[in-house]
Amino acid sequence: MNKAVRKTVIAGNWKMNKTRPEAKALIEELKPLTAKADCDVVICVPYTNLETALALTEGSNIKVGAENCHWAESGAFTGEISALMLKEMGVQYVIIGHSERRQYFGETDVTVNKRVRAALDAGLTVILCVGELLEQREQGITEEICAMQTKIALAGVTEEELSRIIIAYEPVWAIGTGKTATSEQADEVNGYIRSVVAKLYNNNAAQKLTIQYGGSMNAKNADELLAKEHVDGGLIGGASLKAPDFAAIVAAASK
Ligand code: 13P
Repeated sequence: MNKAVRKTVIAGNWKMNKTRPEAKALIEELKPLTAKADCDVVICVPYTNLETALALTEGSNIKVGAENCHWAESGAFTGEISALMLKEMGVQYVIIGHSERRQYFGETDVTVNKRVRAALDAGLTVILCVGELLEQREQGITEEICAMQTKIALAGVTEEELSRIIIAYEPVWAIGTGKTATSEQADEVNGYIRSVVAKLYNNNAAQKLTIQYGGSMNAKNADELLAKEHVDGGLIGGASLKAPDFAAIVAAASK
């Protein structure tokens, strides 16, 4: 991270976990542990927990995000939630393009771009996920994949709007597997993504962009990952479900 130049953001992605009472207990435990954070702290929770999370984090430094949103403002899209609906509730962040959505729910680079546009139009901050599969890394096309995902997702996004974009580099092979990318691998790809953004916009805009790492980030490896120049935070899955673990990552990002 380089706090002189850009924001450090630690975001939890709860995925499909926690009933409302469980969410309440986790947030209550988390609040005092992260109260002195010197970084931005976000929890992205299932839709059913948004209202609970918003109420319980009021007046605290924890911000609330959703895990996806649809691209239309409203309409016949059974089961979907619009960016406008999230914004109206007071939600500030939304994860878009997570690899689990790409893998299990037919999300493509084009639908990711549509969702990014809708989220920005509604006034939300986007956590945009990109990352390669294991076979793509083995084929030596990690950079091509990340560049393509980044470029398509950011189509039609202005330089001014880029201040409401966070990119999360999440190598798919590192998600939920316990296999973390080495800090060198994370720094290398994050730095590469920054160079792609510099070419799309300019160097100044790219330097200011927060680029997180995600994939088995935990209390033990956070220090080393966050020490890298281009790792501006983390998108945390499993470890965000345990308050002491998530708080330890927030503490590492607060140094
Ligand atoms: P894990 O931290 O459980 O590997 O999940 C990472 C992730 O997918 C965050 O979005």
